Amino acid sequence: MSLNGYFVTGTDTGIGKTVLSCALIRALREGGYTVTPRKPVESGCEVRDGQLFPADGTALREAAGAPFPDLDRVTPYRFSHALAPDRAARLAGATLHIEQLRQACLADANQDALLVVEGAGGFYSPLAEDGLNADLAEALGLPVVLVAPDRLGTMNHVLLTAEAIARRGLRLALVVLNAVETEQREGMDNRSDLARHLDCPILGFPRVKRTGDGWEILAGWLRDGA
Ligand SMILES: Nc1ncnc2c1ncn2[C@@H]1O[C@H](COP(=O)(O)OP(=O)(O)OP(=O)(O)O)[C@@H](O)[C@H]1O
Ligand SMILES: [Mg+2]
Repeated sequence: MSLNGYFVTGTDTGIGKTVLSCALIRALREGGYTVTPRKPVESGCEVRDGQLFPADGTALREAAGAPFPDLDRVTPYRFSHALAPDRAARLAGATLHIEQLRQACLADANQDALLVVEGAGGFYSPLAEDGLNADLAEALGLPVVLVAPDRLGTMNHVLLTAEAIARRGLRLALVVLNAVETEQREGMDNRSDLARHLDCPILGFPRVKRTGDGWEILAGWLRDGA
C-alpha cells in the first residue's frame, strides 16, 4: 500500500520542519485535501500528565484540523532523550526499525488523504536501528520537501541533500528557505543562487507568529502544480 503526500526533511535539526509542515498541511486543507499527518518517531518528549508528550506530533495534529487524528497514530513512538531517535530508543530499551515506522505512517491513513510525514533531523540523520530518514522516505516513496535555513552556508547543505534525494530515486518537490535569521547579509540571495543549480521550485518562507501561518505561500506553489 502506498499513499500520496510529502516527506518533509531538513538540512539539520531545529530549522523549521514542523513550522513548514504545519503551513503545508494548512495549505493542502485550504486546497480541499484531507491530510494525514505523521511524525512517526519523536525524541526529546517531555512528560505531561504522566505521558511522553510529542510537541511536533501535536502541532501537526492540530494543523490537520477536525476531525483531529488520534495523537497515538500521529506519533506512536516517543522517547525522552533529546537525541537522534535510534539512540533515544536504545536508551529507553527499545529498538526501532524502518519497517515499523513505515507501517506507522500508513496505519489508519485515509486512502483519499495526503500523507504529510515529518522526519527527524536531516535526510541522512539516523532514524531507526536499520536506517536513516532517507530510508523511510524511500520506503514510503514520497516526494520530498526540503527545509533549509536562509543563511550563509545553506547552499552546500541544500545541494548535498538534493544529491542524496536524487540518489534515492525520489523527487525533490520543493526547497524552502526559512527566514530563521532576523538579519540578512547584504547582497545574499540564496534563492537565485540555488536556482542556478536546481530545477525544482524554491520558496522563501517568512518568520511567522503562529504555527500554520505562512500557508498562503505554499498554497501558491500547490496551485502552480507542486
Ligand atoms: N519561519 C519561522 N518563523 C518563526 N519561528 C520559526 C520559524 N521557523 C522555525 N521557527 C522556530 O524555530 C524553532 C525550530 O523550528 P521547528 O520546531 O519547526 O524545527 P524542526 O526542524 O521541526 O526541529 P526538529 O528537528 O526538532 O523537529 C521553533 O521554536 C520554531 O517556532
Ligand atoms: Mg520538528
